[in-house]
Amino acid sequence: MEKEFLSDQSFELRDFTVSASCPSNIALIKYWGKYSGQIPANPSISYTLNHCKTNTELEFIAGEGFSVQTFLAGKEELKFAEKIEKYFRSIEPYLPWILKGKYIIRTENTFPHSSGIASSASGFGAIAKCLMEVDEAFSGESGAEFKVNKASFLARLGSGSACRSLYEGLVVWGKTSEVDGSSDFFAVRYPDADIHPVFKNFNDWVLLIHEGEKSVSSTVGHGLMNTNPYAERRFQEAHENFTLLKEVLRNGDMEGFIKLVEHEALTLHAMMLMSEPAFILMKTGTLAVINKIWEFRKSTGLPLFFTLDAGANVHLLFPNNGSEGQIKEFIEAQLLQHTQNNGVVKDVMKF
Ligand code: DP6
Repeated sequence: MEKEFLSDQSFELRDFTVSASCPSNIALIKYWGKYSGQIPANPSISYTLNHCKTNTELEFIAGEGFSVQTFLAGKEELKFAEKIEKYFRSIEPYLPWILKGKYIIRTENTFPHSSGIASSASGFGAIAKCLMEVDEAFSGESGAEFKVNKASFLARLGSGSACRSLYEGLVVWGKTSEVDGSSDFFAVRYPDADIHPVFKNFNDWVLLIHEGEKSVSSTVGHGLMNTNPYAERRFQEAHENFTLLKEVLRNGDMEGFIKLVEHEALTLHAMMLMSEPAFILMKTGTLAVINKIWEFRKSTGLPLFFTLDAGANVHLLFPNNGSEGQIKEFIEAQLLQHTQNNGVVKDVMKF
C-alpha cells in the first residue's frame, strides 16, 4: 500500500511559497501503541476540531543546500527545525524533490501555545498540506482524493494522530473491518450517512487544567506499550469498541456514546498507570472535574461528558441539542475553578 505514494516522477524546481491551515483533532477511540514505521497498534477515530488550528507558511528556495529554519509565532525554534529536517529526510522516497532546497517555515497556532493542546497533529497536518501543494507545482496535478490521502499519509509519518486532521468530521485511522477503505497508512472519513445527526453538532470545551510541558511525551508513552502486559488486550478492545461505536453512531445512542468515550479516555490513562515505569499525566484538577461531571450527569441527566488526551486537560463534550445552556452555566460556575488561569478553549464540531 505504501508503494502507492512512492514517487519517481520528474520535477521542475523553482522558488515557491505556499500556506495552509489545519485543525487539531480529539480522539474518541484512542491510538496508543504503535509498530515501526508509524503503524498503529489499533484503529482510532477522532473528531476534527474547528477553531484550534495551525496556520503555516512554507517558503521553498530552490537550488540552495538543504536546510530548514522554523519560526513559531515569529520566534525562531531551533529544536522544531531539527525535527522537521529529520522528517523531511525520512519522506524523500515519497517526495523526491524535498531535499533540493532551503526551507523557511513560519507557523502559528490559534490556541495558546502553552495550553497543552496537541499542536503536533495540526502542525504536521499543515506542513503535509503545504508539501502536497509544492509537489503539485513541481510534478503536476495528482487528483484531489490522491492528494488529500497522500497528505494524510505524509502527516502520519510526522505524528500518527496528525493523519486524522486532514479530513473534517469523524475520521478513522487504522485498518478495521468495521470501516470500508480504512488503512494503517492514512486516515479516511467515517461515512456521513452512518452518523446520526445528534453527533454532527457537538461542543468540545478544553479545560486547561495544567499548562506547560508534559512529564512524558506521547512518543515515549507509545513506546511503553511494547512492554505493557495489558497491551494486547487493549488493542483487541479498541477493535471491539469500533463495533460498538458503529451501532451507537447509527442509532443516535447518546448513553452508549458517553459510556464508550469515557471508557476509552480512562483506559488510555490506565495504560499509563500500568506501564513500567508507570506515569501519571492527570492532575488533581483532572480528577475533581471528572467527579463533578459524573455528579452533574447523575443529578440532571444532561449529556455532559469528557475525554482526555495524553495530558491533564479535560475535553468537555456536549451536543447542541437544547440543553447546552444549562451545561455551559455549570461549566462556568463549577469546573472553571479547576483550571490554572481560568483557561478554557471553546471549540465546536459541526458538519
Ligand atoms: C493520546 O500522535 O502524538 O492523543 O505518533 O508519536 O507523534 P506520535 O504520537 P501522537 O499520539 C497521540 C495519542 C493520543 C491519542 C490519539 O490522538 O489517538
